[in-house]
Amino acid sequence: MINGTGVVKTYKQRGKVLGAREVRALRGVDFSIPKGGAASFIGESGCGKTTLGRIIAGLETYDEGEIAIDGVAMSSLKPKQRQPHFRKIQMIHQDPYSALNPTRTVHQTLHAPLSLRAGQTGRSKSWIEERAAEVLSLVGLDPGSVLARYPHQLSGGMRQRVVIARALTVDPEMLVADEAVSMIDVSLRLGILALLKDLRERLGVSVLFITHDVATARYIGDDGELYVIYRGQVIERGAVDTIIADPVHPYTQSLLSAIPVLHGLEQPGEHPVTPLEPLDQDQSEEGCLFAGRCPFRGERCTSERPLLQVADGLPQEHACFYPERRSVIARPMSEV
Ligand SMILES: Nc1ncnc2c1ncn2[C@@H]1O[C@H](COP(=O)(O)OP(=O)(O)O)[C@@H](O)[C@H]1O
Ligand code: SF4
Ligand SMILES: [Mg+2]
Repeated sequence: MINGTGVVKTYKQRGKVLGAREVRALRGVDFSIPKGGAASFIGESGCGKTTLGRIIAGLETYDEGEIAIDGVAMSSLKPKQRQPHFRKIQMIHQDPYSALNPTRTVHQTLHAPLSLRAGQTGRSKSWIEERAAEVLSLVGLDPGSVLARYPHQLSGGMRQRVVIARALTVDPEMLVADEAVSMIDVSLRLGILALLKDLRERLGVSVLFITHDVATARYIGDDGELYVIYRGQVIERGAVDTIIADPVHPYTQSLLSAIPVLHGLEQPGEHPVTPLEPLDQDQSEEGCLFAGRCPFRGERCTSERPLLQVADGLPQEHACFYPERRSVIARPMSEV
């Protein structure tokens, strides 16, 4: 179980045109991912998904808030003491090619973390070889044919499987898959998604899926929770199917209306949701973070920030002052 409370992260960026500026990547995010469970973070590029994933995997620091892994608060530990906790959480990156060392065979890639473990636990050399073959089989690769190969001799899908196999060498409790299929050939994507789902079922690892595509989020964890993130704030959170069937935040509605796979699920509503305009740089920090793009904003929206909460008898949490149920109208496939 991993919990986060009020996680804040601000980056200082130095731009040539605008000079130094602060980017609020995360603005007090709460999350909770149970053992063996699934969660998905969705939102547009730049909303803070990778930052949150990296913080959860212990690869990035945070400015405020708390992360607790199996009940242990990370802020109470020294960096070295945190390592064994964060090791339970392994990140699968977007680009399997850059994640693998091109000069190492699959055997060498798996051997390094396994021999470390063998040294720590007093296991033999033959255990290393057995375990290497085992993790490859778990990810659907034939050890005999891939162990001696280099990354460039593998397809993108096979490479991503090797990355997942390497993550499994440490017996993780959670995999953080950050846009894990976006750089893989479309024909191979479903295979990787099916693998992640299968690992959840067979090994009981929880999967945190980071994506801009709600259809993949639904595939991985239809029993899990969906977190919709907008400019560093979770603006809607609840069961995946609840949100897909009945999104209440105007941003979620716009996001879902652009997804062709939902076409046919929706009934046309009274308020057609307009497609989102691109984000511009000059975004207001006052009031609702979505106000500048929201077709339903009222007076209150530009002066007050709505917080994520359960309200209006709705099953999911949301951060909107006027969470009307506006049925989502999907755009026809040809427009997407
Ligand atoms: N290392 C960094 N230094 C400065 N700014 C960063 C860094 N990492 C991310 N950011 C900024 O934080 C925001 C969130 O980025 P990110 O978490 O990568 O979003 P996403 O994964 O949703 O696309 C963006 O505005 C991005 O430019
Ligand atoms: S609070 Fe107001 S501006 Fe923000 S999403 Fe809701 S209606 Fe739109
Ligand atoms: Mg990202």
